[in-house]
Amino acid sequence: MSSSADVLAAGPAAPDPGRAAPARKLLIRTWGCQMNVYDSGRMADILAPLGYAPTERAEEADMVILNTCHIREKASEKVFSDLGRLRVTKNERRAGGKDTIIAVAGCVAQAEGAEITARAPWVDIVLGPQTYHRLPEMVARASRAAGAVIETDFPAEDKFDHLPETRGPSGPVAFLTIQEGCDKFCSFCVVPYTRGAEFSRPAAAVIAEARRLAAGGAREIVLLGQNVNAWAGEAPRTVSGGASPGGGWGLARLLRELAEIPGVARLRYTTSHPRDMGGDLIAAHGEIPALMPYLHLPVQSGSDRVLAAMNRGHGAELYLSLADRLRAARPDLALTSDFIVGHPGETAADHAATMRLVERVGFAGAYSFKYSARPGTPAAAQPGAVAEDVKDARLGELQALLRAQADAFNRALVGRTVDVLVTGAGRHPGQVAGRSPWLQPVHAPMASGGTAPVGAVVPMTLRAAHPNSLSATLVLPEETAAA
Ligand code: 5AD
Ligand code: SF4
Repeated sequence: MSSSADVLAAGPAAPDPGRAAPARKLLIRTWGCQMNVYDSGRMADILAPLGYAPTERAEEADMVILNTCHIREKASEKVFSDLGRLRVTKNERRAGGKDTIIAVAGCVAQAEGAEITARAPWVDIVLGPQTYHRLPEMVARASRAAGAVIETDFPAEDKFDHLPETRGPSGPVAFLTIQEGCDKFCSFCVVPYTRGAEFSRPAAAVIAEARRLAAGGAREIVLLGQNVNAWAGEAPRTVSGGASPGGGWGLARLLRELAEIPGVARLRYTTSHPRDMGGDLIAAHGEIPALMPYLHLPVQSGSDRVLAAMNRGHGAELYLSLADRLRAARPDLALTSDFIVGHPGETAADHAATMRLVERVGFAGAYSFKYSARPGTPAAAQPGAVAEDVKDARLGELQALLRAQADAFNRALVGRTVDVLVTGAGRHPGQVAGRSPWLQPVHAPMASGGTAPVGAVVPMTLRAAHPNSLSATLVLPEETAAA
């Protein structure tokens, strides 16, 4: 599953603190989940002491990192087409006397390291998600080596212990990885193979990072993990009233602690598994005001037969009862989900069961995909492949229903005055942009007399619902006072 083939056994090349690193440019392209977005940020942090400053343009980049996603076939194919274009750029830069280091990181690197170096020998570094703390050493080796440097082990040491502290968020919304990996082995999924076994970061490390993020201006912290609600940690010694003797913390307890950090106005967590949705976490949705009324809880299918074939470890009833209990705790909760249509063996009746589940739950949004066979996963060897045109028809029907539900959810908010976290300028001049408690992007004209500095949580009245955003108007101070 993993391999490590070093072309040179050189020692780490730590930056010399006495000498300023030469100015260099770094381009990171990120695909896939928010975890990859977080990892890309951390890779930029690691490389900054070597003199690498961010750029958006491949032509001026001394190093390009493609942080890749392997979850569906389409995502991995994109990597190879991007590598083809980068070969041209690398050759052009070389003709101008400049070197370019090309690195492939993330889950495609983990799963297809050998294929990458065979198909794209101009790649200098291949690194898996568990090894990016070794990047400076790999960069030094790549500059000297005549072949690719590959690091796709699951190292015994904890990557998080070897990473520099986060340099702070780049805006009021910050991601914080608290858990990685997956032991659930859903039939269709590559994650247990690319990200390894479930691992939770200690509570003390998470709290310390959250404090740094808040001190750096983060108002909304999004906790990340492939199975984030499976997070379990030792109670930190510095926190009183924590664990019962010998006991640990679950995610609900961690959220309560994070909500107390000065500056933290909002918390979210993603992605969760129905099996790990415990009573304390459900209750937390009604009890922690900073915990936003939003939960992404993938169900994948509404058919018990397909859920069993998927090895999900839950049926449709469990999901429906979770939705009811969550809404009892937090009536305005926006529930979103992931679906796969056309898993091997899925019949028309199974698909009808998925449609029924969607109708009963009512989702605020969802991602839905056609099943795509991933090499090495159990489903890829299961019989009963569903024809492509059948998958297309089922996906179309499912997406139409999900779209209608999302539109209805958004429209129901029009007319309400809600708290919006201001994240920056809008796309049009004179606009501010932000996000609602339910994670919808919101934009509003900067009315004279209104103030909406970045990072502020301000009341806005929602005026119209669009397919992917809401438009709003700022509530002026005198209106707030009158209310
Ligand atoms: N085919 C299609 N969709 C998949 N997903 C994961 N693996 C596959 C696959 N082989 C979807 C699941 C998951 C989301 C991140 O991607 O719905 O929740
Ligand atoms: Fe993949 Fe299933 Fe694990 Fe989610 S729970 S990462 S779908 S194996």
